[in-house]
Amino acid sequence: MAYRRAVSIAEAFKSSGTVTVRGWVYRKRELKDKIFIVLRDSTGILQLVFARGTEAFNVAQRLNLESSLVATGLIKEEPRAPGGKELHVQSVDWYYEGAPYPINEDAAQADSEYLLDVRHLWLRSRKMQAVLKIRHTVFGAIHEYFRSRGYYEVQGPMFITAAVEGGATLFKVPYFDDVVYLTQSSQFYLEAFIFSLEKVYTIAPSFRAEPSRTRRHLTEFWHAEAEMAWYHLDDLMKVNEELISHIVSKVLEERLDELKLLGRKTEPLEAVKPPFYRVSYDEAVDILKAKGVDIKWGDDLGADEERILTLQFDKPIQLYGFPEKVKAFYHRNDPQRPEVTLSVDVLAPEGYGEIIGGGERIYDEKELVSKIERFGLNPKDYQWYIDLRRYGSVPHSGFGLGVDRVVMWIAGLDHIRDAVPFPRDIRRKYP
Ligand code: 4AD
Repeated sequence: MAYRRAVSIAEAFKSSGTVTVRGWVYRKRELKDKIFIVLRDSTGILQLVFARGTEAFNVAQRLNLESSLVATGLIKEEPRAPGGKELHVQSVDWYYEGAPYPINEDAAQADSEYLLDVRHLWLRSRKMQAVLKIRHTVFGAIHEYFRSRGYYEVQGPMFITAAVEGGATLFKVPYFDDVVYLTQSSQFYLEAFIFSLEKVYTIAPSFRAEPSRTRRHLTEFWHAEAEMAWYHLDDLMKVNEELISHIVSKVLEERLDELKLLGRKTEPLEAVKPPFYRVSYDEAVDILKAKGVDIKWGDDLGADEERILTLQFDKPIQLYGFPEKVKAFYHRNDPQRPEVTLSVDVLAPEGYGEIIGGGERIYDEKELVSKIERFGLNPKDYQWYIDLRRYGSVPHSGFGLGVDRVVMWIAGLDHIRDAVPFPRDIRRKYP
């Protein structure tokens, strides 16, 4: 078949003479004596020229946006064409005309709900293509970071029996004659793995029945989590800033074209290097009060507070030392100051806010049981988790990074849905 000898569009730009390319019609314009088709594949776009009177022209006339085709022709310099070259088509070797395409990429942006309804098609847009490539680089960079530093990749279950991050956002699932929940975080399972492998990570979906529609909450999101035996808060903060800097530098290295296509300014990303700012919760409350925010010590920080805070800094912030009552029960309290936890959130700059949550875990059995009770929970629901503390327990720390939020920030997107191919939130479960 002709499409087997085709080269990618990126390769076609480097070729001279006769080449065969394959792809989808991205733009089409018919003039008196020729048709211009901008062909798209996974590597780029190339202008094809069809001269009237040829058989190829007759085929080109029939093609719709997103029709697929394989064409052979001569590559020529043409300063007015995108990328400075075009293909003068001699033959159309194969094509699939298909139906008229329902999306016009230039006009489409106006109605984002419609684009969500046709997400299965919208993935073909250049914008989505750029986001998907950035996502690919982000996931790869996370694996690369952990694997090159002696972490083992592990997998926890998705069906679980007790809340990690509070009962309010648990999804219930019928399970034969019983009910289970979809995992909110693989953390507890990662804690079990550290007694075997010491440093572990996983990248898996987490599920939260988030009833509100916000710009940064999904009901299903990708969670990169790690857990390290013997690590204290300070060690953890070093991992946070190294990991995030590694991800950002990989994207800058591999995805400049995509960032440009999305209109993302790269200067703020170039500044993302360790050390990040370390800001205590106490300091954060003072900064916010000075900015006129109505907040008192003990309050949790919402998206608005986080946004205001991040706008005071030109790099990510590691916000540490949250009060006990705003953090989940498993966080270890500071022995010097028991009302405060050894917790840390990383806030992305430019208003984006929280991308990482983590901290030191309670490793002492009695301390854990008493905190579970203090939080009004039932130790029976956490029996195996408590059991981990009965045998050779050690200090340990870990964190969870919201991968979709990281993509949203790095790509400079307004809404987390734009960072995800098939987003799920309270109103959307299709396609
Ligand atoms: O702060 P969270 O809730 O922490 C945990 O789940 C810990 N158990 C993780 C751990 O220590 N292993 O969530 C961690 C991160 C957040 O910082 C955020 O980036 C992301 O997960 N996240 C969400 N992303 C999209 N939609 C949601 N509904 C999210 N909830 C949390």
